[in-house]
Amino acid sequence: MQQAALSWKRRGVRVGFVPTMGYLHAGHLSLVREARRRAGRNGKVVVSIYVNPTQFAPTEDLAKYPRDLKRDLKLCRAAGVDVVFTPSDAEMYPGDSGTGILPVRFRDKRAGKMPAPLSFSTYVVEEKLSRTMEGAARPTHFRGVTTVVAKLFNLVLPDVAVFGQKDFQQAAIIKRMVADLNFQVKIVVAPTLREPDGLAMSSRNKFLNAEQRAQAVILFHALRAASLAVKTKSVSAARLKADLIEFITAAPLARLDYVEFFDPETLFPVAQVKRDTQMALAVFIGKTRLIDNAQL
Ligand code: PAJ
Repeated sequence: MQQAALSWKRRGVRVGFVPTMGYLHAGHLSLVREARRRAGRNGKVVVSIYVNPTQFAPTEDLAKYPRDLKRDLKLCRAAGVDVVFTPSDAEMYPGDSGTGILPVRFRDKRAGKMPAPLSFSTYVVEEKLSRTMEGAARPTHFRGVTTVVAKLFNLVLPDVAVFGQKDFQQAAIIKRMVADLNFQVKIVVAPTLREPDGLAMSSRNKFLNAEQRAQAVILFHALRAASLAVKTKSVSAARLKADLIEFITAAPLARLDYVEFFDPETLFPVAQVKRDTQMALAVFIGKTRLIDNAQL
């Protein structure tokens, strides 16, 4: 991958990049179209498909995360993607990553006499924006995300990388990382694609049964209700939070993880919610955890 990228660079070919964990849906494909627009007709569009173990906690759904490479490759081909990059765990995290998630791949025959083989031990950690919301609910998640995205940027050497607004905090953290660590890449954030009823498209929607799927729209309805509440006046965050907790409880299969109101630039929580405040929420529908966000 890196050699191909270097040869494109030498020839002045622009590279647009969309990192994903696969099980592609229309939302991912809208990012691919944006990457093509940015790379130009003579540019290259790269999609990576890698279910990154370091961004999952041991209690989370790494093993169950949906995978269908054959279907993904077909979708990428139809979307005009030039390269699909599908690294293995052994390539991305040689040895034991120290997370205990990955199998130990090196077993030295002379164990005891020799030091343990070097294993992956360098991580990229963003320390401010990743403390709240998804970072608070999933403490090691963003360390895994920034680390794998930094690695992918070094492998694909993109001029432009496209991320989804659906993972608003992730996009903000990646932008921060790129600015702080001087990566030579422009980050573009593309809008959230939704199902006709408003549910944000997500690979995890596959886990929902019919009853759960019907109630999953509560996230979108909560965003809409909050937008309406602050259309002409500001409301205290505490008050709006209490109202939304009640609103979400009306869906019997839904369990609120968090709902937050914050400044879209700094991600700092606000005390008064008004038009243009960013709202994000995470809700369990049965065992499936869904997230959504919007600028109100
Ligand atoms: P994944 O969840 O596969 O998402 C890949 C990209 O698609 C992300 O930028 C995400 O925000 C975007 N996306 C997801 N649903 C979307 C929707 N409904 N509309 C528009 N875009 C959407 O996010 C990850 O993978 C990983 O954390 C990754 C960045 C690949 C690092 O492992």
